[in-house]
Formats: sequence, C-alpha cells, structure tokens
Amino acid sequence: MKIVVGVSSGIAIYKAIDLVSRLRKEKHELIVVMTPDATRLVSPAVFSAVGGCPVYHKWLRVENGWIPHTEISRTTDVLLIAPATANTISKIANGLADNLLTLIALSFDKKAKIVVPTMNCRMYENPVFQENLDKLREHGWFIVEPEEGHLACGEVGKGRYPDNEKIVEAVYLLTTPKKLTGKRVLVTAGPTRERIDVVRFVTNASSGRMGYALATVAKRMGAEVSLISGPTCLKPPYFIDEFVTVESSEEMYNEVMKRYKDFDVVIMNAAVGDYRPEEFYEGKLKKTEEDLILHLKRTKDILKELGEKKTHQILVGFAAEVENFESNAMKKLKEKNLDLIVVNDARKAFASKTVEAFIYGKKGFIKKVDESDKVGVAADILDVVAELFASGSYS
Ligand code: CTP
Repeated sequence: MKIVVGVSSGIAIYKAIDLVSRLRKEKHELIVVMTPDATRLVSPAVFSAVGGCPVYHKWLRVENGWIPHTEISRTTDVLLIAPATANTISKIANGLADNLLTLIALSFDKKAKIVVPTMNCRMYENPVFQENLDKLREHGWFIVEPEEGHLACGEVGKGRYPDNEKIVEAVYLLTTPKKLTGKRVLVTAGPTRERIDVVRFVTNASSGRMGYALATVAKRMGAEVSLISGPTCLKPPYFIDEFVTVESSEEMYNEVMKRYKDFDVVIMNAAVGDYRPEEFYEGKLKKTEEDLILHLKRTKDILKELGEKKTHQILVGFAAEVENFESNAMKKLKEKNLDLIVVNDARKAFASKTVEAFIYGKKGFIKKVDESDKVGVAADILDVVAELFASGSYS
C-alpha cells in the first residue's frame, strides 16, 4: 500500500521513527510529510533513512506541473498522522491548510484516514479539542485513542502514544475488504488447563497464535468478533469486540454455549483438552516412594455439541493430524456436523509461527494454504467462510 505518514511536533515523535520502520518492514511504500515544527525536533533525514522514502516538509516549488499536495493525496491509499498534535488536529477539523500536511489532509478524499492524538491530558480532555476530534470522527477519520499513563510533562492521564503495533493494525482494519460485515464471529484459541492440584495441571503446547490471528483478521474483514482464549502469552488482539479468558475446558464450554445462538460463525481453534484429572486435589500433592497414577476423564466435546445444536451457524473445526489428512478430516467433519475443517500437520503446527493448512468442506478438499504466517493462513480460512456466506451453501 502507499501510505502518507504525517508527523507533527509531539514529543512522541521519536516513537514515529519506529512506526515508519515497521511499515517499511511490512513492505508498504511510504511518503513522510512533516510539519515545520516537527523538523525542529527530529531531522527529516532520520525518517528518510529509516523509511527508505522521500520526506517532504517545506512548501515545495510547483514545477513541471507537479503540485505536491494534490499529487500526494491523489496517488496514495492511506493518510496516517502520528503523532498528531492538538494544533494539527484542530486545523484539519476546521479546514485550515497552512502547511503541506494540513493541505494534504484537506485534499485527501479516500476512506483510510487515521490520526493518533498525543498530548498533555488536560489538553486532550479540553472540550474544545474534543469537539474538534469529534468533527474528524464525523468526517470519517479513524482515531487511535491515546493511552493513559505517565506523560512527558510529568503528569499522569490520557494522552500517551499507543503501541505502534496497534497503529499498524488500524491501517489493516481500514484497508481490508469488508467481506464479513454484519456477521458475528466467535473464535476460540489456545490450550486449556485441567487442574491436578493447586499448582499442577494437564495442558498442551498450543500457543494461541492461530486463533488470535483468526480473530484479528475477522475484525479486519468487518465482522463483530468475540475471542475466548485459554491461557496464552499473547496480547489480546486490537480492536476486537470481546475478549474472554478461560482456563479449563469446562469454562470454555460454558462461555461458548452462552454465546452460540447469537453468532453466525464459530471457529473452534482452541486445543481443548480431551481429558481432565478425575479428581482435583485441594492442596499440593506430596510425592511418595510409589508411582502416581492419574485417572483422567473425558471432557465434553464442545464442537460436537455445537454441531448437534446447529441452527444457522457456519461451524469451523481444526484437526491436527500426522497421517491420512483427508480421511481423518472428513470423518471429523461428518461426525461433528461441521461446514469446514482445517487440517494442520501436528508435528509442525503447535507453537510454531508459520503453518501450512488444508481446508475441507462438506464436499471434500477445498484448498491448500501454503506455509505462511498465521495471519496469512487466517485470511485464507476466512475467505472460504465469506465465500460460503456468499454462495449460501451451508446449513
Ligand atoms: N474440540 C472441542 N472440544 C473438545 C476437544 C476438541 O471442541 N473437548 C474441538 C477443537 O477445538 C478442534 C476439534 O474439536 O476444532 C478437534 O477435533 P478432535 O476430534 O478433538 O481432534 P483431536 O483433538 O486432534 O483428536 P484425535 O485425537 O481424535 O485426533
């Protein structure tokens, strides 16, 4: 994508250097536009080197028919202003165009317009400024809200620059085609923990990455998304509508069942424990000289029950197999009354950052997703879900 990164003179400007670097690593083509005051805090040369891109900050002479602000706003897909000072936001909200950045903002007529306001908390809460921010919202700007915390001035409050990861996610949120608008998608992720005693449990190696990627991408595609997660080390995905943490398969069962009837798609990506210790020891088991035999009981098969109770939902299951991918997958799909099943190689899929997947539907093989990061695989899976909705061929 072609992105204009607008930089104004907030103290958080040093974080915008990392933002530009991240966007470059994700292969976006960048143009940085700085306000005159921003260039007094950080040299344009820094942004140019880190972004591998042109940096504009002066009124440019119009030469050879090249009019910078109209050309830049016409030939780019996204306008992202980070950090955005109260001054820059207020000028844009009121249609002022007294530097190259505000001129570009005035002539930028595409949908993907993002501002990241950062400032002192009293300035941020000022009703005049809030009115200006609301004006931008009304005119289609997406606001990545600042966080609460310690500010450069020594005060504590709302006004901190948010994580760059979140700002980059806002770019994808605004630019991904909205194939799942109006759909409610429930995703489960991660392992479950079945407690033996107060410090020990039975679990598995699921990292949760695949389920978190599915929730992230479903949101990008316009769905309303709830994620129910077992214990993982991951940050909750940005911008999703609901994030619920559970520990055991029983808790996951309860949270999924509570929501089932209100959702259009359920993607059971969690590696739900198939067994739990028969008894929970209310303390810490002491070792003895004897071997210890742990009796395990079957847990409820959540997906099977969802299949039995299905009314209108698209149900997607996962299977980790080491052999006979197609026959094992089709058997599970039929037994659990699924619409889609995604098969991974159990020897490679768990706890790895990339994965290869095979997607099967009621009529058999649909597609192979070549090894890629989990966000890429999630996008392929959700494309198949969107195609099912479009064709109406699910029950
Ligand atoms: N699943 C579930 N509830 C369980 C166990 C699994 O909902 N108690 C779901 C998983 O989220 C996944 C699918 O069922 O979508 C996995 O199916 P399963 O038959 O349990 O596969 P495996 O765990 O790989 O089992 P098997 O040892 O039978 O291959």
